[in-house]
Amino acid sequence: MTTVRTNSHDADSATESASATDLAAFDAAHVWHPYGPMPSPVRALPVASAAGTRLTLADGRELIDGMSSWWAACHGHSHPRLVAAAQRQAATMSHVMFGGLTHGPAVDLSRRLLAMTDPALDAVFFSDSGSVSVEVAIKMALQYQRAVGKPERTRLMTWRGGYHGDTRAPMSVCDPDGGMHSLWA
Ligand SMILES: Cc1ncc(COP(=O)(O)O)c(C=O)c1O
Repeated sequence: MTTVRTNSHDADSATESASATDLAAFDAAHVWHPYGPMPSPVRALPVASAAGTRLTLADGRELIDGMSSWWAACHGHSHPRLVAAAQRQAATMSHVMFGGLTHGPAVDLSRRLLAMTDPALDAVFFSDSGSVSVEVAIKMALQYQRAVGKPERTRLMTWRGGYHGDTRAPMSVCDPDGGMHSLWA
């Protein structure tokens, strides 16, 4: 991330800075961030808002969010179409369990996904993150082998240099060195 601008301070922003200091202190004492030790020797930057490519910190500084891999916001932060769609959907139905229930948005997304994948892939299974999608894929592969009477087939092939997520099974198929998960190989 690159600092691009510092906003001028006024009385309100002094109060905001004080609460941002409290927030950062509580965070440092009690919140464990990904890819860092607990406690962390470095304090996380408090972000107050985000729009497009920019993050506004609680002290008024503005940064370009140049993160282009994990945790990327591929359409920019707070894209008006995505915000409107999320607000509309939350007001209609924020969540229902997917076991035994279905709904228009899920079927519509399934239709769109199937239209862009190989015709041989004709079923969609939803999961809530990249790591969980890899967990699901590994579980399906192992379950398939059990179902066809080959429970001994449990070895997984993966490629060098791969990164697949930070839950248990994905860590075991990450590159042991480059994927930072040699403990779980
Ligand atoms: C190929 C691949 N699989 C899985 C993941 C993990 O995704 P998530 O962070 O949504 O769990 C990532 C994240 O970058 C990824 O690049």
